[in-house]
Amino acid sequence: MKDAQPSTVYLKDYRVPDYLVDSTHLHFELQPKATLVKSQLKIRRNPDAGEGLPPLLLDGVELELLSVSIDGQLVPASRYRELPEGLSIPVDKPAFVLEIHNRINPEDNTSLEGLYLSNGMYCTQCEAEGFRKITYYPDRPDVMSKFTTTIVAPRQYPVLLSNGNEIERGATEDGRQFVTWEDPFAKPAYLFALVGGDLQHVEDSYTTSSGRKVKLQIFTEAKNIGKCDHAMRSLKKAMRWDEAVYGREYDLDIFMVVAVDHFNMGAMENKGLNIFNSACVLASPETATDSSFQRIESIVGHEYFHNWSGNRVTCRDWFQLSLKEGFTVFRDAEFSADMNSRAVKRIEDVSMLRTAQFAEDAGPMSHPVRPDSYMEISNFYTLTVYEKGAEVVRMIHTLLGTEGFRKGSDLYFERHDGQAVTCEDFVVAMEDANGVDLTQFRRWYSQAGTPVLEVTDAYDEVNGNYALTVKQSCPPTPGQEEKLPFHIPLAIGLLGADGGDLPLDTSGTRQVVLQVTEAEQTFNFSGLLEKPLPSLLRGFSAPVKVRYGYSTEQLLFLMRNDADEFNRWDAGQRLAFMALEQLQQAYRREETLKLQPQLVEAYRSVLQNRDLDPALVAKMLALPSEQTLAEEAEKIDAEAIIAARRFARAALAEALKGDLLACYQRLHTDKPYSPEAADIAERSLKNACLAYLCVTEEDDALALAQVQFDSAANMTDSAAALSALVNHGDTASADAALESFYQRWQQDTQVVELWFGLQSSSAKRGTLENVRALMQHPAFELKNPNKVRAVIGGFANRNFTQFHRVDGSGFKFVAEQTIALDKLNPQIAARLVLPITRWKKYGGDLGEKMKTALQSVMDSGKLSADLYEVVSKSLV
Ligand code: ARG
Ligand code: ZN
Repeated sequence: MKDAQPSTVYLKDYRVPDYLVDSTHLHFELQPKATLVKSQLKIRRNPDAGEGLPPLLLDGVELELLSVSIDGQLVPASRYRELPEGLSIPVDKPAFVLEIHNRINPEDNTSLEGLYLSNGMYCTQCEAEGFRKITYYPDRPDVMSKFTTTIVAPRQYPVLLSNGNEIERGATEDGRQFVTWEDPFAKPAYLFALVGGDLQHVEDSYTTSSGRKVKLQIFTEAKNIGKCDHAMRSLKKAMRWDEAVYGREYDLDIFMVVAVDHFNMGAMENKGLNIFNSACVLASPETATDSSFQRIESIVGHEYFHNWSGNRVTCRDWFQLSLKEGFTVFRDAEFSADMNSRAVKRIEDVSMLRTAQFAEDAGPMSHPVRPDSYMEISNFYTLTVYEKGAEVVRMIHTLLGTEGFRKGSDLYFERHDGQAVTCEDFVVAMEDANGVDLTQFRRWYSQAGTPVLEVTDAYDEVNGNYALTVKQSCPPTPGQEEKLPFHIPLAIGLLGADGGDLPLDTSGTRQVVLQVTEAEQTFNFSGLLEKPLPSLLRGFSAPVKVRYGYSTEQLLFLMRNDADEFNRWDAGQRLAFMALEQLQQAYRREETLKLQPQLVEAYRSVLQNRDLDPALVAKMLALPSEQTLAEEAEKIDAEAIIAARRFARAALAEALKGDLLACYQRLHTDKPYSPEAADIAERSLKNACLAYLCVTEEDDALALAQVQFDSAANMTDSAAALSALVNHGDTASADAALESFYQRWQQDTQVVELWFGLQSSSAKRGTLENVRALMQHPAFELKNPNKVRAVIGGFANRNFTQFHRVDGSGFKFVAEQTIALDKLNPQIAARLVLPITRWKKYGGDLGEKMKTALQSVMDSGKLSADLYEVVSKSLV
């Protein structure tokens, strides 16, 4: 925590580094409270930085400085200056060796940045600016250096790891052991990693397309050694996929993954030594749900893909974060789509984007994919930089086609290998490889906010012309009142009365990508023998909102016939959304609620359709979430949203129970578990049916859940049944089920996290009193982000009903917990507070209560830079 108010960093102020570091030799003597770090840096004046020899500025935070020497000569303390966040050393020669000794305290490091202890194991997290908590260093990604690392530790830490290849190991005179690692690739400090602990590992190997054999190792605590197989399989699939799709091979002889229980994010792509949140790597059929299996596959892929998109080619500065993250999310999404159901993956990603990213982009922290400024970069590891950034890369892919995109990525990797570059460099490579002009497209990087497309059409039956008019606009966002038109790839098809796509030109093309570039533009199609029904934004070809005055009949038609599976799902969502809107209005007018019979029948025919992928059916049966409804609303009326959705769900369950039961019984077989896509799909539909059936609260339905709970042989079925009992059963059965589940799984950290999350996010179970009680549970730990996310985050982000209690107690609770957490872990505190920063979108009293809670955080005393940035920007 800093004394002065945090300052703002601007992209426009970027300057190249004054000094470069050719090599970095690190020497660690691990001790819980006093780890000694010796660093030896070969430094040279950057020829591109101008004349003279300015002082050398090094970043350093919470370090105990012991000594500074230059070329072997001790520099007296009177010569250098210790700054609040670093060190300034006078320089009198253009090249020299700097040696610094300092001490750090991993045991008391609860921020989980830099070097810290997790369950007695040493580990690091350096992105974005954690390396400065290890030693003084020019901690910026455009300073790339070759690292050699020696780790000395007592015998109880037999496993000592760092980046690259092990080159030496032995014992010290005092009986400790040491290992030295050398990373042949120059890298920024944020990719440095160190691990020390009593770990076991599983090992496998992978032969690259050019025939090099790579050793693959996954390290965990001994008790988790049986939960590494899926990650290992996923890693090998990812390695193969990156060769096939991008022509990218792995480049070291060893690739290591380490699972860590205390971790702020999902995982980290440190060169050759990825460090993972345990929850994102460990799985077994008995302990992990299908969605964890899929999440692990995608995160293992993501971190592996970073080896090229992030490590070989890295970011010049942190404003360019989306250069590696947007691109890598796009890569992992395509990987998952290729391994599983493409349409279902797309639906999941778009649902998340539409609810959470659109909300972020409409809220006080809205920022462009390439932000212009920040106070604390950790606050910009956002859905906008990651997910919207991935959509921007996807649009380039759509505009250039698969081959053109590959030409562009080949050029990008070849041209910039070993460099720290910008989003601009990425776009230029795409342009150069394809001879296209993406000038206007670049606005996706610089303008924030979600564009809205208003689409109207006209058909002239005399000459068969069809005109589609598209008006684009983008709401103002902080610091950006006016927006210029975006270049939007709008994929469309035109459906004829028989449900098929009509030919759009003489060559018979049935789907086109319209290039929307103007504020208003009309696209003409000729030779149409009938008035078509447009299917707009197929596959969600751009991260925008489309408004078109579809009637109920037209949406039903699209739901049944659209050739684009994503749009079939989307038509159903629009239909449900319209029905839920009507219900909200009726609720406000205190009228009796009635669900449109057409919606019920549409759901019934989806449920009866055996030609569809069961996973797609499960998605189509799900009503838009409360969060989605809130995002779409002008002003959020939480009470009406809750009432409308609850009613619709109950009405659907009641009307469809026969079909739901038939479907459930058909899919509830005793097939042995496998995490293959087809089996996952069947379980997802089966458990969606079970959840609906239990909404009826009928004994028969709850009995099915109880039987499934008692006999489940995998966590997917067990957790689904438990969830049904917790959300719909009587209190006694729910208590009993929760208790027996805990007794069975209390030794398993990941299952206990699931158990916490199931309760805190339940409308019924997760009352504030229960959530407070869970925080007193012996398995809860405020210093562990996964536990915080499961219990407090589950309540704040996934329990719409209880969080929005009219007395404002939910908001107050989140404010209190944020204040407490800020003292331990600023990054986590700054995320936890987010649900109470959107107060402006709530009308009246609830909005006022939310604002009061937020203000109480501001008034609570000295805040971390992380939390200060989010809270101050949200109170404006
Ligand atoms: N680069 C990592 C990933 O996307 C995330 C690291 C984020 N760390 C942080 N402190 N914000 O996989
Ligand atoms: Zn990433």
